[in-house]
Amino acid sequence: MNLGTMFTLLVPLLAIFFFFRMIIKRSSSKEHKLPPGPRPWPIVGNMFQIGRKNPHISFTKMSHLYGPLISLRIGQRILIVGSTPDAASEILKTHDHALSGRDVSILLRNKEPTFHNMNLVFTSQCDDGWRYLRNIYKTDLLSGTALESRANIRENKVMEMVKYLATKEGEDIVIKDVVFVTAMNILGNASLSMDLVDYEGNGIGSGIMDTVRRLVMIVAKPQLADMFPILSRWDLEGWYKQVMHIIEHELGAIWVDSIQRKRNETNGSSSPKDFVDSLIAKGFTNRQINPLMEELFAAGTETTSLTIEWFIAELLKNQEAMQKARDEVMKQIHGNEVNESDLVRLPYLEACFKETIRLHPAGPLLIPRKAMQTCNVMGYTIPKDSQVLVNVWAINRDPKIWDDPLRFKPERFIGSGLSYKGNDFGYLPFGSGRRMCPGETMASKVILLTVASLILNFDWLIPNNINPMEMNMDEEMDIAMYKKEPLHVIFKLNGHIAK
Ligand code: HEM
Repeated sequence: MNLGTMFTLLVPLLAIFFFFRMIIKRSSSKEHKLPPGPRPWPIVGNMFQIGRKNPHISFTKMSHLYGPLISLRIGQRILIVGSTPDAASEILKTHDHALSGRDVSILLRNKEPTFHNMNLVFTSQCDDGWRYLRNIYKTDLLSGTALESRANIRENKVMEMVKYLATKEGEDIVIKDVVFVTAMNILGNASLSMDLVDYEGNGIGSGIMDTVRRLVMIVAKPQLADMFPILSRWDLEGWYKQVMHIIEHELGAIWVDSIQRKRNETNGSSSPKDFVDSLIAKGFTNRQINPLMEELFAAGTETTSLTIEWFIAELLKNQEAMQKARDEVMKQIHGNEVNESDLVRLPYLEACFKETIRLHPAGPLLIPRKAMQTCNVMGYTIPKDSQVLVNVWAINRDPKIWDDPLRFKPERFIGSGLSYKGNDFGYLPFGSGRRMCPGETMASKVILLTVASLILNFDWLIPNNINPMEMNMDEEMDIAMYKKEPLHVIFKLNGHIAK
């Protein structure tokens, strides 16, 4: 065959080859169409467009441009963000199973294949081990019966806080620091039957939160190895070393003696008094109890106390709501202590709580999930291993869903039937689906009990004659969504307290 004939045969063959390639590529790109999103930069992806501070606000702005479901890139990894009730319902309900993984760093997975599966938050998938742990949480700590049996502990701890504040009458108080101690000791008593810290900051629990915060900041920081899995054999940033040191040595050391004391006490004896007793009775080792305790305090103390801070700030800023809440508390509570059984008679206060967590959800993006398998959401592909977020902050402030969304209007919840139990996809302060917060009932009890008790016993003033209307309500995302300027309050006794 001469060159000319070869050429005349090759050209149509090549044309056919490229034609079919184009068709295959087109149809597969249709099948694998990612949700729209801003164009990623080479290598780093959209990291700089998201920014480090307040990513929920960046994602909200992007969703206004690109739609309810967007995709971004962080290095080589794909990040999907849903920002409407429909997107939330698809992610957390329709595809709950496929999208219920957690993003555990590749370094931890490689080096400690089982360790990260020892608590709920960082269990990488909803497998039998996760179900077992979640069941233990539910039955031994957070079930209706378990909560009921410890109501008196919560009431006593809140009353101790009220009495402490009475001794500080007229002084300038950073409220979050005080309610943090209460939240910590409520969990300390539920898990170890002991207080962990006092109001002067002494006790074995005094450093827990700073250490937990340090840990979460390290864990949440984008890792080179996760962005570029090719680097996953090396701990280039010393990340793994730092994480393991904090988990095993710094946090582990805090309760090792207390757990040992309990082991000695429970040795073959009576029924479990608290959560750690139950774990010991089930044969958990210290290495297994440690991550569960870390999770309990990380998930349950800061979220509760920062929500109380926002709640009080909103009531101070919205005097009309404050007056209605006060009238309700004064009318419904007859002694000088609030009991949890009284809370059902405080629907307006509950509406104020719901409105607080609408505007200030502690987890504005929930806790990141991971796609365990490729799935199709709203006509787009979410590839396996993508990180998936739900921007509840954006949903909670969407004028298409909420009338006058930026205003604190508790009345919107009265008679609305809207609950935070994970069934209303326009209102998900505790998430939804199988990974939903298991501590939601306990948190709401503690928060309502605390605020009702503070209303019952004190008048609240803002120091330095600051006009409540001008109070700075800026937020800042750290390990959760904080009030940027800590709230200072002066408490004045109003004559109710038992001295
Ligand atoms: C105001 C207080 C609280 C808020 C706003 C809050 C919020 C959340 C949110 C948004 C999630 C993620 C849900 C999802 O991905 O769908 C979560 C998970 C979790 N929360 Fe809470 N939480 C609070 C208090 C508590 C308390 C008191 C505890 C424990 C006593 C707790 C334990 C947990 C745990 C263990 C998880 C992980 C569940 C899993 O991955 O299976 N939380 N929380």
